[in-house]
Amino acid sequence: MFRKLAITTATALALGTGAALAAGGGGHVTDYSFSFEGPFGTFDQNQLQRGLQVYTEVCAACHGMTLVPIRSLTDEDGPGLTDDEVRAYIEMNYIEVYDEDLQDWRPATPNDHFPEGSYEGAPDLSVMAKARAGFHGPYGLGLNQLFNGIGGPEYMASYLVNYTGEEQELYGTYLYGNTTFEGGWTQMAPPLWDGMVEYADGAPNDMESLAVDVSAFLMWAAEPHMMDRKQMGFTAVLLLGLLSVLLYLTNKRLWAPVKARAKGKQPAE
Ligand code: HEC
Repeated sequence: MFRKLAITTATALALGTGAALAAGGGGHVTDYSFSFEGPFGTFDQNQLQRGLQVYTEVCAACHGMTLVPIRSLTDEDGPGLTDDEVRAYIEMNYIEVYDEDLQDWRPATPNDHFPEGSYEGAPDLSVMAKARAGFHGPYGLGLNQLFNGIGGPEYMASYLVNYTGEEQELYGTYLYGNTTFEGGWTQMAPPLWDGMVEYADGAPNDMESLAVDVSAFLMWAAEPHMMDRKQMGFTAVLLLGLLSVLLYLTNKRLWAPVKARAKGKQPAE
């Protein structure tokens, strides 16, 4: 019983101080800035396209993204590819899916989802940017998240670059020193290096830029409708504000005669 209590207290403490700091080592996250932060932030289409390229050329070798339909690459708030570009993307990358009806592999269509990852232990990245949110803290009214973003992409970009260069083998598994990953050691070998991906738009392609671009892309993958949601939130807040003013005025008006009468009856002081 006490044990349970102790664990809950420890968890609460860990949550309070940022879960990533709880374990020995790890937890170092850089506060990269992203175009979609802040109440009016939007995704940067060019950056999403670059991030897609990094994901495709590097990460997709191990990680899947099975919750994301390929055709969503045409989203205007997202990467904004044309239908033809999406078809070319599938063809150029030989994306195939396993068809249950055919009991065989066939070329993917835009309506299929991104394929599964093939590397053991590499988690699906569809919603990872949301799963690793929390860098800006779970506390407060969520205002931090509104102004600084949810922290998932910051965590990812940091994780991708913060390798220490140390390696160790533990029970037959290779581990790589990483100051962001919880515990300080990860099974993912450093996946990026300077100049690894060539961008068509000539944007910087040092390791950190590649990491930031792919993290922005993965944020979009995890929350493609972020812009709509923000807009809806603002409309709601505006309407509620207007409603409050109207209610206040109506209230004053309704009670005005009563108040006037009450005043008239009051004995003079
Ligand atoms: C060689 C295979 C491989 C490649 C390439 C690779 N990863 Fe990983 N990745 C892994 C493995 C294995 C893990 C699990 C690490 C662990 O649990 O220690 C992982 C874990 C992760 C995680 C989760 C970390 C966490 O907090 O649990 C993220 C995010 C991630 N990878 C992003 C990427 C991105 C982005 C790329 C492309 C730039 C990439 N990975 C390329 C194998 C790979």
